[in-house]
Amino acid sequence: MAAEWFDGGNYISWNLVNSLSKLRSKKRTPSLRLRQSSLSQSRSLNSSSGGSALSKPELLAKQQTDLVLSVENLVTEFVTPEGVGRAVDGFSFSVGRGETLGIVGESGCGKSITAMSILKLIPTPPGHIRSGTAFLHGQDLIAMSDKEIRQVRGNEIAMIFQEPMTSLNPVLTVGYQIAEAVRKHMGLDRKSSRARAIEMLDLVRIPEPTQRAREFPHQLSGGMRQRAMIAMALSCDPDLLIADEPTTALDVTIQAQILELIHDLQRELGTAVILITHDLGVVAETCDRVIVMYGGRKIEEAPVAALFSQPRHPYTEGLLASVPRLSTATSEPTLRLHEIPGVVPPITADRKGCLFAPRCERSTAQCAVEQPMLEQTAGHFVACWQPVS
Ligand SMILES: Nc1ncnc2c1ncn2[C@@H]1O[C@H](COP(=O)(O)OP(=O)(O)OP(=O)(O)O)[C@@H](O)[C@H]1O
Ligand code: SF4
Ligand SMILES: [Mg+2]
Repeated sequence: MAAEWFDGGNYISWNLVNSLSKLRSKKRTPSLRLRQSSLSQSRSLNSSSGGSALSKPELLAKQQTDLVLSVENLVTEFVTPEGVGRAVDGFSFSVGRGETLGIVGESGCGKSITAMSILKLIPTPPGHIRSGTAFLHGQDLIAMSDKEIRQVRGNEIAMIFQEPMTSLNPVLTVGYQIAEAVRKHMGLDRKSSRARAIEMLDLVRIPEPTQRAREFPHQLSGGMRQRAMIAMALSCDPDLLIADEPTTALDVTIQAQILELIHDLQRELGTAVILITHDLGVVAETCDRVIVMYGGRKIEEAPVAALFSQPRHPYTEGLLASVPRLSTATSEPTLRLHEIPGVVPPITADRKGCLFAPRCERSTAQCAVEQPMLEQTAGHFVACWQPVS
């Protein structure tokens, strides 16, 4: 997807791109296809399109009508010693079947709290969801009771975290944990759920899955633990997978393998993916659409190619300028990377005006007092009084 502009010397994680390219040049093994009838084939994009895989443009067109999650005006607050702060401030977005939506932004901009709000995992107190809706197949997750949302977690929506040990129980074998999730959410009996656990470990390319299923998380390497967590997340065939920095702790080769794995599984199963990351190289390589967050707000949203080739928000422009380019390395080796001055505002900061104003070279008097609203041109949204043209 993104290879054209990488080749043109644009935004990169060099090692990651190399690793992904190598993986993609390898012949696909048929092992990724789900072989067991226990996994609902009716959810497969391939089967829904009459047996042939959909091309990327066909997929994107399908996503317009195949909405999985639609979030409107989400506001999540925390009570702090400095007062009530807004970690997520009127955030709206949607994601379609088979689509990968990237959410990027500096540390503390509200990416994880958005994901946790959707699953109602906000610790209360000190946090609470003040307002907003999050519709999944016509049902508002935010309005659900604890019992109802527990049915959704790990079933219709699965989440994978940066640190697998936050999801894996250290005193239970990996196979038992996956089988337990399958038993609970899919109602399979003991034998079938054990078989399903091994099938899932095989699917995420863990060698000797029967043996690994009997091992405890600490007996697996970091990359394998991450795969096991993905296996667990996908074992119930979720409609939506939220991956919060799923590869940050891994070395670049494993990182590429995990991303490739998520991508392949998504194509096989039609799962919608929300990928939360700091890494613009990862976004460029894996996402269809990307949202840039700042101070809990959406400040830009566009198809990934448009955002990288023509960023419109000064913050996005700064983020992209701070990433190394191939041209920097080859023709201008001494060029310094761009740095955005200042830091992200705390959640208790005054919310009037544009939150990026203290760090913005284009800021005017209006920016300090009037909040810019999202404006759209040809599917590219930006919230800025003086967008980059
Ligand atoms: N329990 C809490 N109490 C008070 N503030 C909190 C709490 N949890 C999160 N926050 C604040 O909410 C804001 C958003 O946090 P969040 O974890 O969503 O950031 P993030 O974008 O995921 O950052 P990172 O990239 O570092 O993971 C941060 O400013 C954070 O300090
Ligand atoms: S609204 Fe003003 S301060 Fe905010 S990003 Fe745009 S130009 Fe900069
Ligand atoms: Mg986070």
